[in-house]
Amino acid sequence: MANRNPNFGGIFESGGRLCASEEETQALGRAFAEEVPADTTLSLEGPLGAGKTCFVRGLAVGLGLDPAMVSSPTFTLVHEYPGGRIPLVHFDFYRLDSENELTGLGFEDYLQSPAIRAIEWGDKFPGALPPQTWRIRFSIESGSRKIRGTR
Ligand SMILES: Nc1ncnc2c1ncn2[C@@H]1O[C@H](COP(=O)(O)OP(=O)(O)O)[C@@H](O)[C@H]1O
Ligand SMILES: [Mg+2]
Repeated sequence: MANRNPNFGGIFESGGRLCASEEETQALGRAFAEEVPADTTLSLEGPLGAGKTCFVRGLAVGLGLDPAMVSSPTFTLVHEYPGGRIPLVHFDFYRLDSENELTGLGFEDYLQSPAIRAIEWGDKFPGALPPQTWRIRFSIESGSRKIRGTR
């Protein structure tokens, strides 16, 4: 592990990555999931249609799961996808009005066991996110999507 220098699909390189198609965005999620440690929170940030859910489908593939199971948990707020290399938990904060509602969701409990936690609209409640959260920012650039990571 000492010399390991994961690339995460180049998402953290300056300028991020430009993805010209849904397939490329999904492939980036896959590359990311293949290298990510087992206890990771991701805040997926950017407007509707920017590719956040598409990226989570890629995470699923990278963890050995069927991407067809993945849809935005816009109304259910959380979807769990067990059975992969690491459990995948998918949140969507879009419909939440206050941070207090996270308690009802059991959000704190989900932070206690190793998983990849992908949170669409995580930037709505930055104070609720664990300190080591990775921020992945999505923007729409004509037909493409720009995807940038920071820690
Ligand atoms: N490069 C791209 N990456 C991802 N999605 C794209 C791309 N280009 C076009 N799209 C379209 O944009 C939409 C992205 O949807 P989705 O992943 O659900 O976004 P979000 O979860 O951010 O609201 C899909 O309809 C997809 O077909
Ligand atoms: Mg979505």
